[in-house]
Amino acid sequence: MKILVTYFSQTGNTEKIAQVIHETSSQNNESTLKKIKKVKVEELDDFDLIFIGSACHDSDLAKPVLKFLKKIPDSPRYAIAGFYTHSTFLPEGDERIIKLSERWSGRCSETFEDLKKEKNVNFKGYFRCQGIPSPPIEQFIHKTIIKDNEEWAEFLEEVKKHPNENDLENTKKFVQDILSEF
Ligand SMILES: Cc1cc2nc3c(=O)[nH]c(=O)nc-3n(C[C@H](O)[C@H](O)[C@H](O)COP(=O)(O)O)c2cc1C
Repeated sequence: MKILVTYFSQTGNTEKIAQVIHETSSQNNESTLKKIKKVKVEELDDFDLIFIGSACHDSDLAKPVLKFLKKIPDSPRYAIAGFYTHSTFLPEGDERIIKLSERWSGRCSETFEDLKKEKNVNFKGYFRCQGIPSPPIEQFIHKTIIKDNEEWAEFLEEVKKHPNENDLENTKKFVQDILSEF
């Protein structure tokens, strides 16, 4: 099977996930790893499965990825799977955290899901995990989303570790599950 792993990453978090997807895909398949700006949509027909990844920007996938997804034709011959990293909460825990998670990264998964609905893509699901924020984003999150100092200190200590070993292990599992279906 021919697999393409393509991604947008500004500060390297999503790139780490892309590399693990590529390594895992390469074990029994022919896998190519490429930044999204280097990929032309016409090239996609050469592949059977395409992993598309993005940093979360402004609660959705980053603009270069949104632009790229728009160019994907209806009912393509290849299957697509998604991945993204974001700094704010995962949708786990109490209602407040789940709402904050939806508000600050919820569009990412919806945008991927829209491919299935709007373009009849054979969509294999998505992987997400947290990624350490850059200093300006860290400041933004503290000022706007997590104002309480105690909650902030706890949050920051944790988010700075991501993507961690567990995230990378989960990435491998995500890929293996998809590949085992083919
Ligand atoms: C301009 C910008 C906007 C961001 N907006 C969000 C956001 O809305 N929600 C969120 O959870 N993280 C947001 N982040 C944090 C990134 O999604 C997070 O740090 C991600 O892991 C970065 O991935 P990268 O290292 O591959 O660029 C933003 C980062 C930047 C630079």
